[in-house]
Amino acid sequence: MKLSERIYTKDVFECEASTPVVVAGFVRELRDFGKLKFIILADREGEVQITAKTGEVDEELLNVIDSLGKECVVAVKGNVRNNEKAPGGKEIVPEEIKILGIAESILPLEVRSKARAELPTRLDNRFLDLRKPEVRAVFKIRSEIANTIREFFYNHGFYEIHTPKIVASATESGANVFPILYFEKEAFLAQSPQFYKQACIIAGFEKVFEIAPAFRAEKHHTTRHLTEYTSVDTEIGFIESYEDIMQVVEKLIVEIFSRIPELCEKELKLLGVELAKPKTPFPRITMREAYKLLENQGYSVSYGDELDTEGEKLLGKIVKEKFNSDFVFLTEFPWKTRPFYTYRKETEPEWTCSFDLIYKGVEIVTGGQREHRYGILVKQCIEKGMNPEALEFYLRMFRYGAPPHGGFGLGMDRLVMLMLNLSNIREAVLFPRDPERLEP
Ligand code: 4AD
Repeated sequence: MKLSERIYTKDVFECEASTPVVVAGFVRELRDFGKLKFIILADREGEVQITAKTGEVDEELLNVIDSLGKECVVAVKGNVRNNEKAPGGKEIVPEEIKILGIAESILPLEVRSKARAELPTRLDNRFLDLRKPEVRAVFKIRSEIANTIREFFYNHGFYEIHTPKIVASATESGANVFPILYFEKEAFLAQSPQFYKQACIIAGFEKVFEIAPAFRAEKHHTTRHLTEYTSVDTEIGFIESYEDIMQVVEKLIVEIFSRIPELCEKELKLLGVELAKPKTPFPRITMREAYKLLENQGYSVSYGDELDTEGEKLLGKIVKEKFNSDFVFLTEFPWKTRPFYTYRKETEPEWTCSFDLIYKGVEIVTGGQREHRYGILVKQCIEKGMNPEALEFYLRMFRYGAPPHGGFGLGMDRLVMLMLNLSNIREAVLFPRDPERLEP
C-alpha cells in the first residue's frame, strides 16, 4: 500500500461501495466483540469505521488489530462498504493494516473523553490535546483568520514586512521588556515592531503590515495576558487623522466576521459559536465621555487614568445596552497613559489622537496617529523621562522628512479567544508562554 494513494476519512463517505481506498491516521477507538472487531480511525478531517469480521478478513490481520492500542498510527487499505449501522453509513473492510507509529498503552490525556482535563494538564500534553477535533477547530479558525487578515492587507495595497525581534531598546514602556544577553551587550526581545513599522513609512512604503510575535515581561496571571503573543501590526502614511486608522480597523474586523462563518462553518458549529457581522460604524467614545458613563454607573476612574479590567468590562456592558454593539472605539486617551511617540491634540495637549478598540469588554487593538515632527518628538521623549540619546537611532529618522502617519497593533490571541468565547487566552495559542510556562 502506498501512502501517496491515501485519501482523508471524510472522502470515504463520497465513495461508492466496493471502492478500494487507503486511509491513515490515529486509532481513536477500538472495540472487540470476539469475532467482530472495530477500529475508529481518525485523521485531521474526521473519522471512519474499519470493520474486521472473522471469515471476512485474514487471520493475520485480526492479530494486527489485537496488537493495536489507542492512538497508534496506522495506514489501512481496504474496500468501502455501505452499512446503515456504521457512523455516516459507510465503513472500510480492511485488506491490509500497516502500523506506522506505536503509542504507549497508558496515555497522559484521553483524546476521546467527554470530560475535559484541567488546562495545565491539557497544555502539558498539548500534542494529544490538539488531537481533539474541538481543540483543533480553534486553530483551523485561527489559521483562516490569519489568512483573511493577510489577504485583506494585500488587497488594500499594504506591503508585508518582517522586522527584528532582537532590539536595542524598549518601544512601549521600559518596565515590561525581556532583557537578553547579546554577546557582550544587553539587548531586548521586541515588545512591538513600532519603531520599524514607522521607519518603513518614513522610507516611503506608504502602507505596511506585519503578523509576528511580540514579547512582554508582564508578570500578571490573567486570562488575557501572555508573555509572547501574536501581534497584527500596521502603519499607514499620509493620513489626515487617527480616524483614517480606525476606519481600517473597522473594515478589517468586518472582513474577518464576514469571511470566517463561510470558511469555518463546521468548526464554528463544533464549538457552538455563532458569528454575526458587526454593524458599522462602531460607536466612538472619548475617554472623557467614558469616565462619565462609568461614573453614572457608580464606577469612578480618576480623570486622566487608564481603565482597569473591570472598567473596560463595565464599559463593554454599557455600550452593548446603549448601542447594541460588541465593539467600541475608545478615543482621545490621556497623554499620561500613552507612549512618547503618540500625537497629541493641538488644542488640548493633555489628550491624544489615539484609540483602543474594545471587543466584548476587552481591549484588542491599540492605535493612533504618531508624532512625526522631530522637535516635538524629542520634547515628548524628555517629558516621558526618557533619554533621547539612547533613542537616537529612532529619533534621527524624523530629521530627514517624515510624513504624517499612524497605525495600530491588534492582539491576534485576544481576538481569537473572544470570537470563540474561550475562557482563557491560552486556549487560543498552540504553545502559550506565561510567567510559569516555558514548555512545551
Ligand atoms: O496596547 P499595546 O501595548 O500597543 C502597542 O504595542 C502599540 N505599538 C500598537 C500601536 O500600533 N500603537 O498592544 C497592542 C495589542 C493590545 O490591544 C492587545 O490586544 C495585545 O496587543 N497585547 C497583548 N496580548 C496578549 N498578552 C499581552 N501581554 C499583550 N499585550 C498587548
